[in-house]
Amino acid sequence: MKVCVIGNGGREHAIAWRLSISPSVEKVYAVPGSAAMKNCAELVGIDWCHTDHLIRFLKDNKVDLVVVGPEAPLVAGLADALHEAGIPVFGPSKAAAQLEGSKVFAKDLMKKYNIPTAAYGVFSNVDEAKQFIAKTGAPIVVKADGLAAGKGVVVAMTVEEANAAVDDMLSGNRFGEAGSTVVIEEFMVGEEASLLAFVDGKTVVPMIASQDHKRIFDGDKGPNTGGMGTYAPAPVLTDVLRDEAMKTILEPMVAAMAKEGMPYVGCLYAGLMITNEGPKVVEFNARFGDPETQVVLPLLEGDLGQIMMACATGTLQPNMVKWKDSSAACVILASKGYPETSSKGDVILGELVQYDTSIIFHSGTKLEGDHYVTNGGRVLGVVGLGKDLRTALDRAYERVDHITFKGMQYRKDIGAKAFK
Ligand code: AMP
Ligand code: GLY
Repeated sequence: MKVCVIGNGGREHAIAWRLSISPSVEKVYAVPGSAAMKNCAELVGIDWCHTDHLIRFLKDNKVDLVVVGPEAPLVAGLADALHEAGIPVFGPSKAAAQLEGSKVFAKDLMKKYNIPTAAYGVFSNVDEAKQFIAKTGAPIVVKADGLAAGKGVVVAMTVEEANAAVDDMLSGNRFGEAGSTVVIEEFMVGEEASLLAFVDGKTVVPMIASQDHKRIFDGDKGPNTGGMGTYAPAPVLTDVLRDEAMKTILEPMVAAMAKEGMPYVGCLYAGLMITNEGPKVVEFNARFGDPETQVVLPLLEGDLGQIMMACATGTLQPNMVKWKDSSAACVILASKGYPETSSKGDVILGELVQYDTSIIFHSGTKLEGDHYVTNGGRVLGVVGLGKDLRTALDRAYERVDHITFKGMQYRKDIGAKAFK
């Protein structure tokens, strides 16, 4: 079949690469993709916002399946438009994508269906929000309701910090409409893990558990980023805990979405906190994680094209999804100034080719002449593969040692928590 991937980041690079080696897939298109994806996909210079244009391209080229990478097109309703045009889509409808697009929607649904998550309140009024903070005390977490590119969450260690976040979002209009309502929630203590699952509207099949590193600096210091590195499998989510998360979180949420008349199709991402009381939801995302995808998909056995088509057509079966008995680690190389700003146009030196035991996925690069330059905050995801996590990490960092660009920053402690 012919598959079209929407997006141009590291996650989409990993998806397109994995699809390109799936037996069921004869051709991969990427809209718009990136220069680095050329070895696994044909780049199509269409803006997904121009839905009519995109649908015409998909029909003219007899594309069988569309895989939507990022959240923005999903929240904007791209899957619905493709559905109407009769094109199978891996990715949720606009209604179902609210699970990521609105934290209030997600929290209210979790409450209604008794899915474990932090206690919370919802506010649009500054005084009421501050009263709630005063009553609850710190640490406490303030979140903008809508999409804020991973920057709409403040984990406040003091009441003053929480109040400042409320001022910033509600009065200061920091995130515009996305921050005109805030969720204020209980601070949960524990280690985090990402559990992604394939979903076809009713059947939920978990992927291998991974762990992200959200802060910019070693030791989980500094501001939150989109993710500075990942590894899989993550031992913190033992088989027993994963089964518990499936029973108490993912399966009930997918059943709830169907019951609410908005069946969920695609990758459902549960960001979990492993607390003393068991796994609780930090957030849901309506898409693959970035950079979780870069470590999860290289460990997939089975045919990703077939699995995604089965999700899109309501025919997913657990035995389609199998995992290699090995490990993967991804180190993100970020540009100068990230996450506050990012640097563009710095020449990337070093070998960027793919080996059996290491792969480089491009998050934000551009081809200038015959060399790649930086083109965003997160630049490259350097992935090492091996029989165990130690080997995978060594292989990733060994590649990192041979890559450089001006202002390059990366964490040196990816995977360290797994050895605690
Ligand atoms: P989110 O964008 O909702 O995933 O939040 C970003 C990060 O903030 C998470 O990965 C956590 O590290 C932290 N966080 C969010 N909510 C909570 C919470 N209720 N308790 C503790 N930490 C949280
Ligand atoms: N790595 C976190 C995310 O994709 O949201």
